[in-house]
Amino acid sequence: MVKGKILVTGGAGYIGSHTTVELQNAGYDVVIVDNLSNSNADVIDGIERITAKRPTFYKNDCNDRVAMRKVFEQEKDICGIIHFAASKAVGESVQKPLLYYRNNIDSLLTLMELMPEFGVKGIVFSSSCTVYGQPDILPVDETAPIKPALSPYGNTKQINEEIIKDTIHSGVDYKAVILRYFNPIGAHPSAEIGELPNGVPQNLIPYITQTAMGIRKELSVFGDDYNTPDGSCIRDYINVVDLAKAHVIAVDRMLTGKSEEQVEVFNLGTGRGVSVLELINAFEAATGVKLNYKIVGRREGDIEKVWANPEKANNVLGWVAAEKLEDTLASAWKWQVKLRERGIM
Ligand code: NAD
Ligand code: WQD
Repeated sequence: MVKGKILVTGGAGYIGSHTTVELQNAGYDVVIVDNLSNSNADVIDGIERITAKRPTFYKNDCNDRVAMRKVFEQEKDICGIIHFAASKAVGESVQKPLLYYRNNIDSLLTLMELMPEFGVKGIVFSSSCTVYGQPDILPVDETAPIKPALSPYGNTKQINEEIIKDTIHSGVDYKAVILRYFNPIGAHPSAEIGELPNGVPQNLIPYITQTAMGIRKELSVFGDDYNTPDGSCIRDYINVVDLAKAHVIAVDRMLTGKSEEQVEVFNLGTGRGVSVLELINAFEAATGVKLNYKIVGRREGDIEKVWANPEKANNVLGWVAAEKLEDTLASAWKWQVKLRERGIM
């Protein structure tokens, strides 16, 4: 039985593709809108290979109101939206702030303006632990203060959260769920889909897997003089399939009217802080591959340590991050090996 039709913006991207798989497995029809600015259409084939079902795909820009209206008209009965589409490179956002403000804010405005016209019941928004900056209390929960953003990218997440809250409080007839992801990593266990960064990776895991593959000479560990047990930064690394499953639960809850509040916020993390050096050891243990790395100076703008208090998502959504770190790292490596076999990387 089909549960309903969900519009997944950015569904050809890393988290969106994994979420599309889980939505389809759970009985939803999925309509993807992606402009392929940071992905490619082969991902749709990967989703089909995993689920034996091809999501409907529109190559459109979410900021294009005319094109988006056509999607809603054509698809008729979209009941919910998961809005992943955004530009996400922190460093680039410092260089090109207008691109980030335009892309990340306009797309949300466009969708939220169209929702009432087409009777869409709710929107799930991809936010980030970046809104907490360096939290005063760890693990950080959803009541922690929002800290001044360290980049235009981070600022777009804060502004988008405010746009959602203000709009919901103005009395619109739909619901919203804000999901604050910690550090998503890994790939689908089939290795049919995974993370495919453009150019030199800025994030730790793709840098590690590309170094292990010999594409990069060595990993630079940014700082070993932080106030942490081994001196390297601490993060909460969350498996991307676990993360995707949380979206399905959030959509179920939003559409079946179970949520008590019209707008809800959830941290999605494991609750476990892992340092960069611990992560390198875990990767080597999980894959048997030795990693070349050196310690270098701190990276500007890095937070020293942050990990989630995921109790609200555990208790209210009934969701837990189930995958073990070692298995997640093994899945990232399997994906990298598959990319090599396919001649992509
Ligand atoms: P991604 O770049 O892999 O996926 C985003 C997708 O959106 C891409 O396929 C891109 O082509 C598409 N896109 C961008 N702008 C668009 C537009 N205007 N119209 C249509 N499509 C557009 O990124 P991801 O890692 O999957 O991230 C998904 C969401 O989660 C983003 O909003 C990101 O900010 C957020 N997030 C990501 C992380 C992370 O570490 N990956 C952490 C926290 C939050
Ligand atoms: C993780 C750790 C680095 C690369 C970013 C965004 C954040 C969110 C997730 C979207 C840090 C260290 C990294 C390397 C290293 N995205 N590192 N060598 O910085 O936690 O968060 O992605 O919302 O907004 O800022 O993730 O993967 O870049 O870094 O030592 O080559 O790995 O210093 O401690 P980060 P990351």
